[in-house]
Amino acid sequence: MSTAAPARKDFLSVLDFQATDLERCLEIAGHVKADRSLGRQAPTADALEGRHVAMLFEKASLRTRSTFEIAIVELGGNVVSLQPDAALGKREPVTDVARNLERWVDGIVIRTFSQKVLEEFAAAAPRLRVINALSDDQHPCQALADMLTLREQWGAVQGRTVTYVGDGNNVAVSLVHASLMLGINIHVVSPEGYHLPAWAVQQAASISRHGARLRLFTDAQDGVAGADAVYTDTWTSMGQEAEAIIRRSVFAPYQVNQALMALAKPGALFMHCLPAHRGEEVTEDVFESPASVVFDQAENRLHVQKALLSMLLAGPVKHP
Ligand code: CP
Ligand code: NVA
Repeated sequence: MSTAAPARKDFLSVLDFQATDLERCLEIAGHVKADRSLGRQAPTADALEGRHVAMLFEKASLRTRSTFEIAIVELGGNVVSLQPDAALGKREPVTDVARNLERWVDGIVIRTFSQKVLEEFAAAAPRLRVINALSDDQHPCQALADMLTLREQWGAVQGRTVTYVGDGNNVAVSLVHASLMLGINIHVVSPEGYHLPAWAVQQAASISRHGARLRLFTDAQDGVAGADAVYTDTWTSMGQEAEAIIRRSVFAPYQVNQALMALAKPGALFMHCLPAHRGEEVTEDVFESPASVVFDQAENRLHVQKALLSMLLAGPVKHP
């Protein structure tokens, strides 16, 4: 199987992938997941040999940081953990940080606030592969894990419907991108004033494949009707803490509970990127129900990020 690099050097958005890159990434992820028990005998165990990958996190993380570190090590690469005091643009310009790192490391995984800062960073360092580990606007690595999870659950995903209920945030945008590229219909249900950004809605028609549609709703019951999976995320993202009280009241009618799940198709999955806030965006019983695949999503972060790192940073890898 080919791990040929995508045309774009960076992964700042799902849209840095062509649909064929996305398909290939999920296929490689399936292989590395199956091969993980082989340990150092796995075909990808040396894929990043001699490569250094830096990690810079300006926001909290459990899943993304852990899974990237494990992925780099399991691919035979070296992790360079930067401390947040290297903060982008505070001690020296973003472009200088990028041009320093480019002289030492092959790739960098960044969690920060501004997508524009990520783009500026990536443009300043043409030899450095830059991966978005979450910005205010997008969370593309999460969407890769979500798509792998759906493929595992459903086999063919084309023509299915995923309903995202909640804030039209970074997770929602990347979920919309990946879903449309794989031919999955996506409903996004949000209160007025918290819909997907207009630019993300405008992109939908040009990235959609196999007739997949994006539909926006303000009524949760309408949006969930016919859903094969119901997805939610926190009402207050990192950086929005000052709005938490108002958001709790605006989003209260958008809680994913058993009554809402009952309006989706029988057997519909429950999805969440985590961390979850029980009693807010999801009830305890839905979170803990057999429909919930949230820990599969979390596990799959590791496998898709191994696939992504090998596509961006490794040479061709042979799988049995
Ligand atoms: N889902 C996710 O990105 O989790 P972390 O914030 O813990 O990395
Ligand atoms: N929307 C959330 C996702 C956390 C993984 C945030 O940005 O805080």
